[in-house]
Amino acid sequence: MFDVRAVPQTRPQMRPGIERITPYKPGESQLPGHDRVIKLASNESALGASPRAIEAAQAALADAALYPDGGCAALRAALAEHHGVAADQLVCGAGSEQLLSLLVRAYAGPGDEVLQSQHAFMVYRIAADAQGAHNVFAPERDARVDVDALLDRVTEKTRLVFVANPGNPTGTWIGRRALRRLRAGLPARVLLVIDGAYADYPDDPEFSDGHDLVAEAIAAQADNVVVTRTFSKAYGLAGLRVGYLYGPPSVVEPLNRIREVFNVTAPSQAAALAALADQAHLAQTLAHNRREIDRLGAFLADRGYKTSPSGANFLLVHFDTAERAQAADAHLREQGIIVRPVAGYGLPQCLRVTVGAEADNDAFMTALDAF
Ligand SMILES: Cc1ncc(COP(=O)(O)O)c(C=O)c1O
Repeated sequence: MFDVRAVPQTRPQMRPGIERITPYKPGESQLPGHDRVIKLASNESALGASPRAIEAAQAALADAALYPDGGCAALRAALAEHHGVAADQLVCGAGSEQLLSLLVRAYAGPGDEVLQSQHAFMVYRIAADAQGAHNVFAPERDARVDVDALLDRVTEKTRLVFVANPGNPTGTWIGRRALRRLRAGLPARVLLVIDGAYADYPDDPEFSDGHDLVAEAIAAQADNVVVTRTFSKAYGLAGLRVGYLYGPPSVVEPLNRIREVFNVTAPSQAAALAALADQAHLAQTLAHNRREIDRLGAFLADRGYKTSPSGANFLLVHFDTAERAQAADAHLREQGIIVRPVAGYGLPQCLRVTVGAEADNDAFMTALDAF
């Protein structure tokens, strides 16, 4: 018979792996002694959401007593049309982060490996640790994903490969051919996840958001590549938490089984639908980003700072040393400006600076000049 006194533990034990997790530290939004701060730390949209999206969310609040549509039917239909895929090839999440974590939950567990590059977005490793899977990191070259290094680290245990294109916190991207070479070099049983959180931004014709790879996989009934996208960045809806994934139905279906039933709130679905319909606002956002990133880039180059090429809405600024980066961060904070230290990503000599509104970028440049 079960004898509870024979159980040696004196308290509930969490799964191994969870103690390895360093909690994700979001960008701060307050500074002591400053009533108003300029936050350039979380890659939020400088122009905010489409006013139509805000109106739609507000209107949806009237039905706050009702559960949302758990299948996000209207939003999925609009997104499927937008990307030229079928509705059963698409699933929505509370931010793309939720879908990234669900992918790990569905495909990796203890003893499995989750492969990513050196400075990859933190959520991948947190999700893998939470499942007891092992994180494997491939070195980057000049803060850019190195396809050969990734392929070199594939083993029998590799289950998932995450590539953000463009990457965060680097902002760098790989081109169509490189992405295709990565997929072609991976065993068919390895699921390639192309994280397109910033895929709206690049204007390089060689850039690929992975859509063609997904379309080919679907056509060939291959189950091994998906794309994730978000409304948090270029659509300016980070606070409402809407992301989506599209790919072969064989990958979408298990995610539908394990996701929370009502994972995207009704105001969020309504806002995302309206935001998607307002492509003029998206175009304005992208034009602003290009203009301002060029202006910030030119200023930083003029002052002798190196920046990584950015296909996103932020710049990775390189300082001579980690101490200089820390000192610059402290100086900016004194001026009421919050940027993002990225030592946790193995880049202690860098700061990540989100492209803000014109006046906020001016304030950043003035403050950095005084440093
Ligand atoms: C590379 C990358 N992927 C995914 C996300 C998650 O975004 P969200 O959960 O808001 O869709 C982020 C957010 O910063 C990101 O930088």
